[in-house]
Amino acid sequence: MVGLFSRMIVATTIRMPKWFVGWVSRRYVAGPNLESAVKIMKRLQLEGACFTIDVLGEEISSIQEADYFLSEYVEVVKAISEHKIDANLSIKPTAFGLLIDKQKGMQNIEDLVSMANQHNMFVRLDMEDHRVTDDTIQAVIDLHEKGLKNVGTVLQGRLFRTIDDIKQLQKSLGSSADYRICKGIYLEPESISHIGYSQIVEATNACIDSMLDAGAYTSIASHDIAVIEHALQSLKSRGMGPNIEDPRENAGPERLHKGPGYEFQMLLGVSGPIRRKLATQGHRTRVYIPYGEKWYEYSIRRLQENPTIGTQVAKAFIMPWTNRP
Ligand code: FDA
Repeated sequence: MVGLFSRMIVATTIRMPKWFVGWVSRRYVAGPNLESAVKIMKRLQLEGACFTIDVLGEEISSIQEADYFLSEYVEVVKAISEHKIDANLSIKPTAFGLLIDKQKGMQNIEDLVSMANQHNMFVRLDMEDHRVTDDTIQAVIDLHEKGLKNVGTVLQGRLFRTIDDIKQLQKSLGSSADYRICKGIYLEPESISHIGYSQIVEATNACIDSMLDAGAYTSIASHDIAVIEHALQSLKSRGMGPNIEDPRENAGPERLHKGPGYEFQMLLGVSGPIRRKLATQGHRTRVYIPYGEKWYEYSIRRLQENPTIGTQVAKAFIMPWTNRP
C-alpha cells in the first residue's frame, strides 16, 4: 500500500514544473554550481563527514563535451585544496568520452587522475552500465601500471561477474586495490545480474567479505540496514573498526585521507541519521555530493529509480522544514 502511494507521488512529481522538482530535490543535489557544493560540505563536515564530489552528467554525445567535465573537475580539485575540505572526486567515465572515443576518453581520465595526484587526491571511477564495465576496470589497471595509484573503481554487487572481478583485480592491483562496493543502480538483464532483493543483498555482502579478505580498501556504499549490519559484523570479525590500525596482514598501504581499511558512503540527503550514528561510533563516513547544471535530469532519474522517495516527497510537502540534506 505504501509502495503504491509512493509510486503515485513520484509519478506526479516528475510531471510537475521544473521549480517544484528543484524544490523536492534540493535535498539530494547540492545545487547548480561548485559554490553550492562547497557550502553544503562546509556544513556537513561539522557532522564528521568527508566527501566525494560528482559533477552531474554522464554519457555525452560528442567528444568535445568531455572538455567541460575535465575543466570543471580541475576547478573542483582547486576548490577542495583552497577550502581545505576532506574530499575526493567521483567521475563518470562516459562523461569523459569512453563510449565515443575510447583512446581520448582514457586520456581525459588520465589527465584528471594525474592532476589530482599532484594534490594527493583520490579519484573514484563510478561504475555505469554493463557496456563499460570492462573498460572502466581496465582504466584503473592501466593507471596503476603507470604509477597512478590514486584511483579506484566501483563494483556492483548485483552483477554475477563481480565476485570474479575482485579475484582478477587482486592479481593485477594487489592490496592497493581500492573499491566502492554498492548494489548497482542499473537494472541489468537477468542473464548477467541478480534480480531479487535478497539475492542482491546476499551477493553484495559476499563482495564486501571478498574485498576485505583481499586486503583491499573497501568503501561500503549502501543505505540498506541489511548491508550495513553485515559490513559491521564482517569488520568486527576481522578485528577492524574505528581508530584501530588496519590489522589485516595483506592490507594495502595506509591511505591519505582514508579510514583504517574501510569507510561507509552514502548519497547526499539519504539516511542522514544512520550516517551520523556511524560517524558518532567513529567510522569514517563519506557523503556523495552531486552538483551541476544537469540537476534536473539527475533528480528525475533518482525519483524514477527509487519510488520509496515518494514518502519523502510527501513529508517534504507536509513538513517543509524537514526537506534539507
Ligand atoms: P536500498 O535501495 O534497499 O535502499 C535502502 C533504503 O535507503 C531505502 O529504503 C530508501 O529509503 C533509501 N534510499 C536508497 N537509495 C535512495 C535514493 N537514491 N534516494 C532516497 N532514498 C534512498 N550505483 C552504481 O551502479 N554505480 C555507482 O558508481 C554507484 N555509486 C554510488 C555511490 C554511493 C555513495 C552510494 C550510496 C550509492 C551508489 N550507487 C552506485 C547506487 C547503489 O548501487 C544503489 O542503487 C543505491 O545505493 C540503493 O541501494 P541501497 O544499498 O542503498 O539499498
